[in-house]
Amino acid sequence: MEFSISDSIKRARETFAHLKDDGLTTSIGDIWSIKKMLLLDYYMPSFIQIVSKNNFNKFYFADPFCGSGIFTDFKDKELKNEIFPGSSLIGALNASELGYTNCIFSESNSSNIEALNSRLAKCKTRLHGKEYTSQKLEFEKAVEKILKMRQYQVAILVLIDPDGYVPIKWKLMEKLIKEVGIDIIFNFYTQGIAHNVSTSKKKSEHEENLNDFFGDDGWKEIRDNRLNANNLGPKLLKYYLDKIQSNSTKFAVDVGVYKQGDSKLYDLILITRSKGGANVMNKAKEVMNNATTEVIKREFKAQLGSQSRLFE
Ligand SMILES: C[S@@+](CC[C@H](N)C(=O)[O-])C[C@H]1O[C@@H](n2cnc3c(N)ncnc32)[C@H](O)[C@@H]1O
Repeated sequence: MEFSISDSIKRARETFAHLKDDGLTTSIGDIWSIKKMLLLDYYMPSFIQIVSKNNFNKFYFADPFCGSGIFTDFKDKELKNEIFPGSSLIGALNASELGYTNCIFSESNSSNIEALNSRLAKCKTRLHGKEYTSQKLEFEKAVEKILKMRQYQVAILVLIDPDGYVPIKWKLMEKLIKEVGIDIIFNFYTQGIAHNVSTSKKKSEHEENLNDFFGDDGWKEIRDNRLNANNLGPKLLKYYLDKIQSNSTKFAVDVGVYKQGDSKLYDLILITRSKGGANVMNKAKEVMNNATTEVIKREFKAQLGSQSRLFE
């Protein structure tokens, strides 16, 4: 079936509309954050189809940076009072509809965990009676938990959506990437990483964090080559993509997320073990390239318009 950006936004908004003004903690996001949710809607059904052909019969969605379940505070005036469900609620909705075995939600902030647990409980009927819960865990511990769950015939789709790049040390990513039966969607902070690389000083904290993130110091060569000065983000992204593909048998595909026009904020890297997965991800890239911030905003506003007409 053709993927519809409009239907995907509508379903997300309608399913969780009752959570508006619930007084609980919310997360930070804006129009462009919705692209991540569209990608989840696109890939979660395919993931199950692909891995079930490969002898897996239990499927998990893991979200180790799960947030509070709702984001608000859109900068656009017309959307100022609106909410949108975050990755955990979208993941839970898809998981409950598609027959995923369970969801593994965690993150480091207690008030987000409290808010998400309360929202998941309030949404039980909408989540087909499924009782999902989240747990307070640092990413490093969450990786251990995910690897433990990755047993015989268990496939896991992991969304890695941190606030920046510091917690995502290569030694942790490598463990997930090398594991058969794990596909990953990773939010690579292209703009922020390029900024820190360009301003990093010798033996500074940035330098150490970047070494941990890339797992080596090859990024310095990219920084020090003057020809890369205006092209740092794409070069660093390519370095990371090559690193994934040379350290594992997995395929990696990138989808750009832009604040507006061609001002890129981050790339969603899709990492999959199978050729079938890579085909779906390349198709996802094509579809997601049409989901620009401008298109998403227009669609969101059009839905508000028809909603208010309904009440006239
Ligand atoms: C970008 S937000 C996630 C948003 C979420 N995916 C959504 O769609 O609503 C990142 C979250 O990671 C949490 N976090 C930050 N550092 C962490 C760490 N080291 N381990 C686990 N969670 C962390 C923050 O509290 C924050 O809620």
